Amino acid sequence: MLTARMTLDPAFRVAPVNRRTFGTFVEHLGRCVYTGIYEPDHPSADDDGFRTDVLELTKELGVSTVRYPGGNFVSGYRWEDGIGPAESRPARLDLAWHSLEPNHFGIDEFMRWARKADVEPMMAVNLGTRGLQEALDLLEYCNIPSGTRLSDLRIANGAKDPYGIAMWCLGNEMDGPWQIGHKTAREYGRLAAEVARAMRMVDKKLELVACGSSSSSMPTFGAWEATVLEEAYEHVDYISCHAYYEERDGDLGSFLASSVDMDHFIASVVATADHVGARLRSRKKINLSFDEWNVWYLSRFESEGPPSDWPVAPPLLEDRYHLADAVALGGLLISLLRHSDRVTAACLAQLVNVIAPIVTEPGGRAWRQTTFHPFAQASRHAAGEVLRVEPVCPTYETAAYGEVPVLDAVATRDEETGETALFMVNRSVDQSLTVDVDVRALGAIEPGEASTLADPDPYARNTADDPFRVVPRANPEIRVEGGSLTVVLPPVSWNVIRLLG
Ligand code: AHR
Repeated sequence: MLTARMTLDPAFRVAPVNRRTFGTFVEHLGRCVYTGIYEPDHPSADDDGFRTDVLELTKELGVSTVRYPGGNFVSGYRWEDGIGPAESRPARLDLAWHSLEPNHFGIDEFMRWARKADVEPMMAVNLGTRGLQEALDLLEYCNIPSGTRLSDLRIANGAKDPYGIAMWCLGNEMDGPWQIGHKTAREYGRLAAEVARAMRMVDKKLELVACGSSSSSMPTFGAWEATVLEEAYEHVDYISCHAYYEERDGDLGSFLASSVDMDHFIASVVATADHVGARLRSRKKINLSFDEWNVWYLSRFESEGPPSDWPVAPPLLEDRYHLADAVALGGLLISLLRHSDRVTAACLAQLVNVIAPIVTEPGGRAWRQTTFHPFAQASRHAAGEVLRVEPVCPTYETAAYGEVPVLDAVATRDEETGETALFMVNRSVDQSLTVDVDVRALGAIEPGEASTLADPDPYARNTADDPFRVVPRANPEIRVEGGSLTVVLPPVSWNVIRLLG
């Protein structure tokens, strides 16, 4: 049996919990939109054709923000194709995913869906095949109340009130050779700066995200961020980060420590942004929008390749997640929360069917993957201020990251309700971990709820026929006595403890 100890103290504040940490992503990719959030013939569909079973699960997941419409898709997208009468919308080739885009669902449908799901939209503009003028047109269509050609067109299309979209992504992964219209850092930095400057002429308060590297393994990582920010620093608010993790070669120990890599990634981008800021003598800080992160078995997708014809909404990137995936994802959530001082927006990529916590059958059921649960619990219980915790615990050796701590943890404390939430991952593949927490600084407390997501089989999954195989269950092995809390965490587990003040 392994043991660990740590101290919870409301004085160890990192930053307020940002609700935008709990964003997700809806891309026109595979079945995320069609037969995911939108399926007019589905028995649960509402008047707008939205699946209400998926809307309910989206609310239960606790999603704050949704990035739309891509992703790689956005770099070839003409937003005007997706507005107006359904019968006059053109079908187009989607080169990014080798699919046919019917344009039955567009910006107006997305905004109606976002309202019903009670999420904030985060809109991406196409800087691949298009540029400044089209970005301004989309902004005019969405945010100008009335009295211009495009705002009046929105009203004619049924949306009387402007959408008031605050957050805008200036393109997507523009460093990637796979990206339609991909650019050098200098080309993109100049374009992002000009688009940002012009969008700000329309509305000074917009929050703008410049593309960072599409992953930290890109050969240009670091240099890309520096060059883009040299050009765009004073015009944007965020630089984006994207990261996907998967278990490789059966190395579960390394995979469960994926958050070590995310921590390092975040620290590297913060250092690069601050270095540029220092050179520019700027007082402004650029924050991070971690607007694509998840577990994704990308190597499987790469070996399968894209469809050979041009199908509408083919099943693409439909990873089925097991317990260990959910635990790794829980670690990534801990990393995002731990960096709440600089990561002030994040999007789990994606929401439905495509590497997603929610899965649907066309015409049929919808259910929660294992990864649904850590996200939903963190979104529900992380409130107030993020607290730093420094566990003292055993370490283990990994091939990917060297020696790593067996315990990963972060806490939040809500002064108003007096509630403290402690989120922990036991990365050990075969041993339980007893954690002693010094809680004296919290004053008088009682345990609210202690839950654990665990299973004797780290590869156990939920399916449509067995959707509750892997769900959070009460952890009976918790004691609170005289300023000390002791809890036993099973191997490969995600754990939440709520303490009521
Ligand atoms: O989320 C899937 C894809 O991953 C996105 O379209 C792209 O931005 C990233 O490479």
